[in-house]
Amino acid sequence: MQEIERHVREVPDFPSPGISFKDITPLIEDGPAFHAAVDRAAAATAGIDYDRVLSAEARGFVFGTALAYRARKGLILARKPGKLPRETISASYDLEYGSNTLHVHADSIREGTRVLVVDDLLATGGTARAMCQLVENAGGVVAGVAFLVELTFLNGRERLAPYPVTSLLTYD
Ligand code: PRP
Repeated sequence: MQEIERHVREVPDFPSPGISFKDITPLIEDGPAFHAAVDRAAAATAGIDYDRVLSAEARGFVFGTALAYRARKGLILARKPGKLPRETISASYDLEYGSNTLHVHADSIREGTRVLVVDDLLATGGTARAMCQLVENAGGVVAGVAFLVELTFLNGRERLAPYPVTSLLTYD
């Protein structure tokens, strides 16, 4: 796991003073480390029964795509407003200032579709929670929620209860 962790670079005071940003770009730029991270995430989610992966743009797509490909599952894209061409359903979540909305195509999740929600990072949990709401609003089932990085001190995991949450790397 250290082989993976040492490629996540902590950037102080980004995007604002006092925030220690966890930059995953060095990890995905390193072939063996990226491969190991995806393999680990696949192993951590291998016991979950799911039909499709759901990920949010932009960084979430990196691990969502890799995991879906490796597990031979379909991938559903959660996108910001105005990006998807057909009828969508949406869920909004609060940011420190303002809010964001994520959309998926209305026919991506059917009654009973079991969905694994995947994102690169769990901070406050707002993004992942919105994705879980999208799944449930469409009649689907949240089979699990998986992250590469979890910032435990922000308690995002609590906002995702009772869904099963897995993360590879935690920062206190
Ligand atoms: C980041 C990250 C997660 C989200 C986590 O995405 O990729 O999706 O924040 O934060 P939360 O748990 O507090 O919701 P961001 O919204 O910065 O978008 P990006 O991937 O397009 O950079």
